[in-house]
Amino acid sequence: MKTGIFVFVLSLASLLSANETFDTKCSTCHGLKGEKEITGKIGHTRALASIDKEELVTLMTGYKDGTIHEGEGQHGLGKIMRGQLRPLSSADIEDLALHILSLNNKAAKK
Ligand code: HEC
Repeated sequence: MKTGIFVFVLSLASLLSANETFDTKCSTCHGLKGEKEITGKIGHTRALASIDKEELVTLMTGYKDGTIHEGEGQHGLGKIMRGQLRPLSSADIEDLALHILSLNNKAAKK
């Protein structure tokens, strides 16, 4: 019972910090609600809040590891994203994806 509460508090804390990470590190380019689209050399990003969780995790991990088109990314701007994601762990990436999904739900409820 106590362990359950502890785990709950822990995951709440990590979601809160994902919230902070998103607001301070990602929202400048992607928008506070993950709503902005960014134009690159050969295309443009979707609004992050429109992408599902599995794809978010795959993309973020790919940028971090420099494996999307040899680090060029989907639109020739992968190096920008690599710099953003390199300091984050795979647990941070999971939490960020969940946070981005929650933005999506908020947008859907409007
Ligand atoms: C300096 C601006 C900038 C910041 C800050 C930034 N990004 Fe990005 N992001 C980009 C660009 C540019 C691309 C397109 C890269 C490419 O060519 O694939 C992108 C692409 C993405 C994509 C894929 C979008 C798609 O349409 O497939 C995801 C997911 C993403 N970013 C998540 C994040 C997260 C999470 C953070 C915060 C940790 C973040 N970004 C911070 C500029 C930024």
